[in-house]
Formats: sequence, structure tokens, C-alpha cells
Amino acid sequence: MKADRASNLVCPLCAEQLAGTEKQLVCSRGHNFDIARQGYINLLPVQHKRSRHPGDSKAMVVARTQFLDSGVYQPIAERLCDVVSGLIDTSADNNLLDAGCGEGYYFDYLLDKLVSAEGDGSLCFTGIDISKEAIIAAARRNKLITWLVASNRQPPVADESIDLILCMFGFMSVEGFARVLKPDGKLLLVDPGEEHLKELRSVIYRDDKEDEAASAAVEIDGFTELATERLTFTDVTIDQMQIENLLTMTPHMFRASREGKLAASRLQQLDLTVDVVFRVLEKQL
Ligand SMILES: C[S@@+](CC[C@H](N)C(=O)[O-])C[C@H]1O[C@@H](n2cnc3c(N)ncnc32)[C@H](O)[C@@H]1O
Repeated sequence: MKADRASNLVCPLCAEQLAGTEKQLVCSRGHNFDIARQGYINLLPVQHKRSRHPGDSKAMVVARTQFLDSGVYQPIAERLCDVVSGLIDTSADNNLLDAGCGEGYYFDYLLDKLVSAEGDGSLCFTGIDISKEAIIAAARRNKLITWLVASNRQPPVADESIDLILCMFGFMSVEGFARVLKPDGKLLLVDPGEEHLKELRSVIYRDDKEDEAASAAVEIDGFTELATERLTFTDVTIDQMQIENLLTMTPHMFRASREGKLAASRLQQLDLTVDVVFRVLEKQL
């Protein structure tokens, strides 16, 4: 399959189509957006921001990049490829959106695998994240993907232009996702299962009350669940650096007590359970 650039971007200020040159995108009303030298585009207007630097910080992005590049979560990326391969049509044009793509590990891995698939269809990948630091890192990973600083609440792509949205360990926006998905479009949610990182959680939390793992199995208005599968593996031991990176890149960093984090920082290594739930949903007509 071949990879194509996104042609469905819209202006975050007036929703008119964006078109442009190597350096800039412009809408018919004259709103213009520079293409950064790293290749990404900032389509997050200040009025869509709830803080000065929304989303993950640079430290979180660096920690996630180091952790993911160490390969611990590669089985998740591989399963992602299997699930997505079953959802796309290799003889058609496929528009995919990674909503809350972070520093781009999974989308990069997926595109790399899918371009070598047989078929004369195309793959148009757009990754969005509200964190500029995350998008800068993502732009380094893959030049064939359109990377945007943007919010899941208002993805700056045309209505009903996306075939499949990935939302991995991310922030779901029902309205934002429903607007941009095609009528039969799919949503793939990847979230932690009950056992996910249980060994780390038992070190950093004193009791179950502190450790309130979110349930992946909630119903989502306007979507019908088509399939669920779980990926669990336990053959992982991580070292001190990986423990620190894992803590820094997850919400546990904010939730865990000072004592909990101190206990984790004293560990030399940790056996880990990875438990992840893949849910495929379809937009209701
Ligand atoms: C836990 S990280 C997951 C990143 C990536 N999906 C992964 O699995 O490696 C959540 C990401 O969502 C981003 N985020 C938070 N709120 C967002 C929003 N409203 N719109 C888009 N991205 C958002 C954060 O900046 C962060 O990169």
C-alpha cells in the first residue's frame, strides 16, 4: 500500500478546508498556519487551550520515548497492527487518525508495517496531540505522517472524513470523534486492563482506594461495540531506568504519594504484568 499526505485538514478557526504550500496552510478566509521546520503544524488556537502548555510535558514525552523505544510494549504495537489490518480495506483509500498520539510510537510502527502490505489502496495517517512537545517528538519519528498540535475535542479534519480513529491510553471525545468519522467509521480504543502494571501499582499505592484503576468497559454514547480482545503478558522485567520512565509517563506520577514514588525509586528491577484491552466500536448511524 502507499502512504499519502492528509488532504482533509480544516481551519480550526472557521472549519473551511486548508490548502497550501511547503511552508504554510491557508483557508479561504485567509487564516494561515505555518508548517514548522520539523514538519508538524500547530492547529491549536489559543482559544482552544485550557492552559498555557496543555498535555504532556517534555519530561513525560522524553520518558515515554525512552520507555517505548526499549521495546517493552512492542507486543502491544504488534497486536495493534493485527487489529487494524482486519479493519482496513487494502484496495481502498484509508484515512486514519491517531487521537492523542503522544510521541508517535504506535502510529509510526503501524504505518511502517502497513505500507508493506499487498494492495493498491492508500494510507493517509494524521496524528494529533494537544502537547506540542509530543508532536515535535512524533515529527522526528515519521515524515510520512501528518502531525498536528490539536485537541481531540475539535480534531481539525473535515466532517465524516475518517475511516478509523485510534485512541490509545488517551482522552476520548465522543462529540469530536463522532463528527469526523465516516458513517460506518470505526473507533479503536486501547486502554489498561485490570491487571495492568499491578506490580508497580502495589509498590506505589498503599491500598485499593488509592489505586483506582479506570474500567475500560464503559459504554460510549453513539457507538456500538463490535469486538473486544485482551492482550496480557508477564514475561517482562524492567530495570531502574525503565521503572522511572514508566512512572514519569503515566498518570501514576500524579496520583502516587511521595512515599510510593520513593519506594519505586529504590527498586533495582521489577517483574511486570502488561494487560491491555482493545475495543473496536462503530459509529451509530
Ligand atoms: C497517556 S498519553 C498516550 C500517548 C500515546 N497514545 C501512547 O499510547 O503512547 C495521553 C496523550 O494524550 C494527550 N492529550 C491529553 N489531552 C488531550 C486532548 N484534549 N487532545 C489531544 N491530546 C490530548 C497528552 O498530551 C498525551 O500525549
